[in-house]
Amino acid sequence: MKIGTSTQVYALIGDPVEHSLSPLIHNLAFQSLKLNCVYLTFHVRIHELDKAIKGIKALGVSGFNVTVPHKVAILSFMDEIRPSASVIGAINTVVNDDGKLVGYNTDGQGALAALLNEGANPKGKRVVLLGAGGAARAIAFTLTPIVDKLIILNRTGSKASILAKQLEKRFRKEVEGKILSSKKLSDELDDTDILINSTSVGMYPNVDESLVDRKMIRSDMTVFDIVYNPLETKLIKEAKASGAKTVGGAKMLVYQGALSFEIWTGKKPPIEKMLKVVIEKLKEA
Ligand code: ATR
Repeated sequence: MKIGTSTQVYALIGDPVEHSLSPLIHNLAFQSLKLNCVYLTFHVRIHELDKAIKGIKALGVSGFNVTVPHKVAILSFMDEIRPSASVIGAINTVVNDDGKLVGYNTDGQGALAALLNEGANPKGKRVVLLGAGGAARAIAFTLTPIVDKLIILNRTGSKASILAKQLEKRFRKEVEGKILSSKKLSDELDDTDILINSTSVGMYPNVDESLVDRKMIRSDMTVFDIVYNPLETKLIKEAKASGAKTVGGAKMLVYQGALSFEIWTGKKPPIEKMLKVVIEKLKEA
């Protein structure tokens, strides 16, 4: 594939974007499928988002990912918002359909795909979700209709209870949203099938942190940590040592990217290859 006049441009906009792994996985996928496309990153500051969107339209960028801090602000620039994004109130993937911008969110489906790939189907299961931020919202809206019971625990209790109420209203199903305490977590984990950490706790440089005491982890549960840097968080290491099934954040990163790729190209990307380069890159780091 040679870059030329017919090369289609895809991009990531955010602030910062320097450490993103998205160019790595998307360019690998474009090359593997011999698509004449390229994926670039654009550092866009908050006050320049409107100009960036005008530029994207004017230059005919075919599609783009959106990351911090634009995931919510980008909503107002869309011509159409798909339910995957509107229910969460955040967008991570945009298609530029001849100047008409269509917004999606692949975070929740990416998390679900990561669980399924590890043989941890959440259907009919009891799931504890730590966190109530953007990532947690995406995961909660995807999992609530599938699971038996979702329990959301967050440092700021009000955010957990507001999210639980929104989910109950939408899915007409009981969802618990409470403040996170060690006692509550320990009680809940007694009969939980899947524990998901969707907070930033344990992320580099705070690699010695975990919200979960090792003693709370049972060997017959699945522990999923959306943090991918480090590749193995303290939570994942301790879950492995306890004999639990584990799902690392790198998988979610690759699957949410793969879903964006499918939305843009209509083609399935080489997931295993993408995961391999992400793991290699994170090991280097
Ligand atoms: P993202 O979009 O990645 O989800 P976010 O919306 O900023 O990021 O959410 C971060 C989540 O991590 C929140 O649930 C946050 O808890 P609060 O709502 O109480 O802020 C959680 N979090 C961050 N640091 C934490 C810590 N030290 N202990 C517990 N929870 C933490």
